[in-house]
Amino acid sequence: MMTATPAGLTPESLAAITARVRPFTMAPDLAVHFTAMETVRLITAGIPGVLVECGTWRGGCSMAMLLAQQAVFGHVVRPVHLLDSFAGLPPAADRDGPLAHQWQSETDNPGYHDNCTVSKEQVLADITALGFSEGEYFIHPGWFADTLPPLAAQLGETPIALLRLDGDWYDSTLVCLRHLEPLVAVEGTVLIDDYYAWDGCARAIHDYLSAGDHAYRIKSLAEFCGAYFTKRAARDAFEIV
Ligand SMILES: C[S@@+](CC[C@H](N)C(=O)[O-])C[C@H]1O[C@@H](n2cnc3c(N)ncnc32)[C@H](O)[C@@H]1O
Repeated sequence: MMTATPAGLTPESLAAITARVRPFTMAPDLAVHFTAMETVRLITAGIPGVLVECGTWRGGCSMAMLLAQQAVFGHVVRPVHLLDSFAGLPPAADRDGPLAHQWQSETDNPGYHDNCTVSKEQVLADITALGFSEGEYFIHPGWFADTLPPLAAQLGETPIALLRLDGDWYDSTLVCLRHLEPLVAVEGTVLIDDYYAWDGCARAIHDYLSAGDHAYRIKSLAEFCGAYFTKRAARDAFEIV
């Protein structure tokens, strides 16, 4: 199932983008589609700000944000910031749930991907091979707790239009929300890759929204391959969901 593509992004171009990033992402096609479509929709709608992915692994979803812009606008109009430890996932904690512990202990599982470890140099080489240059993207290597404060300082008054969270665990998700959700533009999107996948991610989202008394509605992606919310402080029209 594919929802209607935003203006300028055809089903054919979406399929081409997905095929190009397939080696570099573990996200299912529908999640890549949503990332690309939301990139174009937000920019076309004039929602200000850059695009950020926290937890890139090999960078495929960030590449989809770049390729979608190139396909529709002819060039990258909003830079993409990629954040990752490039040292894999931290150990799962109790709040991450039994499945997270099981996944991290089954090191011979084909989906383990060496605990999602990839080098920054490999990601840089793969983005460069797609034809993108620094300035169109920025890579922030290191643990989120260390890289988020300088990123927030670097952004200054520049908001975030699309924040893609893909750090899997409770602490990783919460630290990103605390530092970056306040920078998301009104009507911007927070995309939560792991909302259905991992208990810790879901707990972090609920805890953060509840602690901030936010009424943002969490919406599911097709086939529950992720979730998102729009940063809308209050429901001000009955027809807008
Ligand atoms: C499931 S992978 C991301 C998948 C990727 N977005 C894709 O499209 O395939 C999760 C990534 O989050 C990163 N990560 C998790 N917690 C982190 C933290 N606290 N600081 C930095 N990176 C973290 C891991 O290194 C890993 O690469």
